[in-house]
Amino acid sequence: MPKIKDITRESWILGAFPEWGTWLNEEIDETVVDKNTFAMWWIGCTGVWFKTENNTNIAIDLWFGNGKRTQKKKEMDPFHQMRNMTGGRMTQPNLRAAPIVFDPFAVTHVDAVLSTHYHNDHIDPFFAAAVLENISEEVPFIGPQESVNKWLGYGVPASRCVVVKPGDVIKVKDTEIHVVDSFDRTCLVTADEDIRGVLPDNMDEKAVNYVIKMPAGTVYHSGDSHYSVQFKKHGNDYPDIDVAFGSFGENPIGNQDKMTSIDLLRMAEALDCKVLIPLHYDVWTNFKADPKEIAMLYEAKKYALQYKFKPFIWDVGGKFVWPVDKDKREYHYRRGFEDAFTDEPNVPFKSIL
Ligand SMILES: [Fe+2]
Repeated sequence: MPKIKDITRESWILGAFPEWGTWLNEEIDETVVDKNTFAMWWIGCTGVWFKTENNTNIAIDLWFGNGKRTQKKKEMDPFHQMRNMTGGRMTQPNLRAAPIVFDPFAVTHVDAVLSTHYHNDHIDPFFAAAVLENISEEVPFIGPQESVNKWLGYGVPASRCVVVKPGDVIKVKDTEIHVVDSFDRTCLVTADEDIRGVLPDNMDEKAVNYVIKMPAGTVYHSGDSHYSVQFKKHGNDYPDIDVAFGSFGENPIGNQDKMTSIDLLRMAEALDCKVLIPLHYDVWTNFKADPKEIAMLYEAKKYALQYKFKPFIWDVGGKFVWPVDKDKREYHYRRGFEDAFTDEPNVPFKSIL
């Protein structure tokens, strides 16, 4: 028990954050992935850790920052994407709503660091620093031009950075990463100049989606894509998508940023995936959404539309194993006490509880 005289704000912060310490790092490190399966962990926002049966580890969109922490700044900066998008000036109340479940500085092994786009909740200087410091192999940092610009700005060596655009295929050990179009129109309105009346044409430099083909199955990571009819094209091009991630959120009035529940169901249909997993709704207080809305609409529409996929409601820090968990509909954290009654309970008599 710490003594009052030794307690400082710093000792509290170091003792309490990150909230999960190295619990999840240890779980990922110690997990041995069975043949013909792959494992994934939700790190928060659209951050996902992939681990294959041959111990290939790929981290996409890991991010360990937060949002607003003070109300003193009353207005967003000119040309902030949310100001560009809405025409509103007031500082948006986007406080981080989910815990940080992974300690970036305790990373021990990763084979590739990927970013879908350069917005601050999809790329991270702390993880980049820890990867460069902790891992001796030449781990590549893979992303569109603007993400690479950000890594270079942090000090990631240019020799480590790989600029990708739709059409590219990158091989990481046993895994093929196919780079495909993003439909993140919020990225298109991220500009440091007046773009009213200007047709943007630089999506490929700003954002990409990824199709991750592992030996045991294929995942579609849509970054922060909005809904697009082009999801059907990606479904045609990749007829073997097992799991698809989509960014879900309750858009505040005046916003068109995250996909809605209907958009996600339509995306899953168009991609012809087997499992649909919503992401991103966890992280911002002002975009918080209830994923059970997706399950409710799925139930209402599945017979009429002959849905072939299932939605899965995950939790941050949770694990999903393909194909073992393919028919599950909701995640629950491990509940523990698997060894109850190993010893005689230390209670006064048997019927007390
Ligand atoms: Fe985002």
